Amino acid sequence: MQYDVILPAAGSGKRMGAGKNKLFLELLNKPILAHTLTVFQDDQACRAIYLAIKSSEKTEIEELLARYSISKVVAMPVGGDERQYSVNACVKQIRAADVVLVHDAARPFIQQETIHKLMQKAATHGAAIAGVRAKDTMKRVSNGIIEGTVNREDLWMIQTPQAFNFELLRRAQQQAEKDGFLGTDESMLVERLGEVVCMVESDYENVKITTKEDLLFGEAILNRRRG
Ligand code: C5P
Repeated sequence: MQYDVILPAAGSGKRMGAGKNKLFLELLNKPILAHTLTVFQDDQACRAIYLAIKSSEKTEIEELLARYSISKVVAMPVGGDERQYSVNACVKQIRAADVVLVHDAARPFIQQETIHKLMQKAATHGAAIAGVRAKDTMKRVSNGIIEGTVNREDLWMIQTPQAFNFELLRRAQQQAEKDGFLGTDESMLVERLGEVVCMVESDYENVKITTKEDLLFGEAILNRRRG
């Protein structure tokens, strides 16, 4: 079976403080965006890539696609002010699909095994998201005062990819747009329709490159994987 992937890449990466889109920063001499694209380019189960971009970065991204031989990008819509809107811009480009994955372009260390687990789960259950178990003790805090300790057993830290039956994702995005609802991930949009979303255990290496420390961590991961 095959899937299509939506990669939102239209952020500004303010928390990185690089003065440009963090996705152009390099890990072992290759831009973060190119690392992420390569994962899907190399995965035979991936049929097409929908990439949300900033209009001002179109030329730079086209050059990057050519340089790293990325041929699966079929549409590059201009993203929105919020990540959800960037994803929606891609959803609107898709005519027909079975399973669609949404994956942050800023998570270049995603493993194929996780992608395929998500694809299978979404094909049978409609929706499945990647995440890891919370490692630390979790507390609810109000105005700097501890209110209580939350049972960690039930808590997961959510990542991308998030995989969906395409019609479900489209319906969830359309409803959110109609209601003016802004969520922090696609799962929230599906959850509010009352639909089931499955949890797939991923790994702690699937980090979102957000701050400078993540670049050091990222290079260490790549060096180890290259042996
Ligand atoms: O900023 P953050 O790293 O949380 O964004 C997650 C992903 O969503 C990144 O790949 C970023 O480029 C993308 N994004 C987007 N449109 C936005 C904001 C973020 O495509 N308006």
